[in-house]
Amino acid sequence: MAKIYSKITGTGGYLPTKKLSNYDLEKIVETSHQWIVDRTGIRNRHIAEDNQSTSDLGLYASEEAIKNAGLKNNDIDLIIVATTTPDQVFPSTACLLQQKLKINNNCPAFDVQAVCSGFVYALSVADSFIKTKSAKNALVVGAETLSRIVNWHDRTTCVLFGDGAGAVVLSASEKPGILSTHLHANGSYAELLQVQGGIGNKDSDNNHQFIEMKGNEVFKMAVNTLGKIADETLKKHNMQKEDIDWLVPHQANLRIINATAKKLRLDPEKVIITVQEQGNTSSASVPLALHTGVSDGRIKEGETILLEAFGGGFTWGSALLKL
Ligand code: UT7
Repeated sequence: MAKIYSKITGTGGYLPTKKLSNYDLEKIVETSHQWIVDRTGIRNRHIAEDNQSTSDLGLYASEEAIKNAGLKNNDIDLIIVATTTPDQVFPSTACLLQQKLKINNNCPAFDVQAVCSGFVYALSVADSFIKTKSAKNALVVGAETLSRIVNWHDRTTCVLFGDGAGAVVLSASEKPGILSTHLHANGSYAELLQVQGGIGNKDSDNNHQFIEMKGNEVFKMAVNTLGKIADETLKKHNMQKEDIDWLVPHQANLRIINATAKKLRLDPEKVIITVQEQGNTSSASVPLALHTGVSDGRIKEGETILLEAFGGGFTWGSALLKL
């Protein structure tokens, strides 16, 4: 019997219309366009309208991915949403998305929470469903409204984040698709990047939960860890760095992306970068970058792509795949 792979058959992305530039931020906190560009590469980020929730952003990205896969909504038989900013405590954002997509085939739908690594985690779970023939067409979404958990008085974090959603359809195929996924976490670093409190914490003030980050420490860990996971992934396949056609990294900071590409000795032209115009959209950043590279024609069928992400937890992960 032929080996079953899961293959990306469609991608989609959505960014809210409203943009917030570095110059807009200069009016809110003590910062400057030049500082933000020099330290992060970010120039703009998108902000959801008050009446837009995470599942609304996910809906647009999902519709595009399903259309690009040549499928109908009801062909989807698994929905996984990676998000840190769910619409509600429950039902899951995946169930709310299922409702908005009018998918009525009773397929499983659930959320994955691994912050900025969430999409890579979700992709790995969906890959397992497909390889074990528990699903044929999985919708995997990374969607965030991070602007709702940003402290707009904290210049060390508010300049970094943005809202958006990216989605892929992963379908069972006899042609090589996802070659392997690698997931890791180390909870002992929890307090370096966190939103304190939560619904299950009796003492927390749930109206005042904001992103807190020890940026410098996170930066160092991110650069080191992303280099290591790339090596781990290539080693598994006896591949060389030159075998990678495209690096699609989590988009937190241009300096982190450039440092990772340098470690991989990868031509900067082979890295998909969206952080300048989107900021850090957490779980949405990898699928949005992938969608950008696929839809503008840079990433072509049959090419080898390394996805990688690092985020709160700490969590980190990679996926090596053929498009
Ligand atoms: O997505 C999950 C993973 N997240 C990340 O990977 C983010 C990792 N961290 C970073 O990207 C960087 O650490 C930051 C962009 C957050 C900060 O850059 P940095 O080069 O590490 O700066 P720093 O935190 O060491 O701060 C340098 C200076 C400080 O002033 P002093 O103490 O040297 O006087 C900050 O107070 O820059 C100051 N600063 C700012 N100045 C103007 C911090 N934020 C700002 C700001 N505007 N927005």
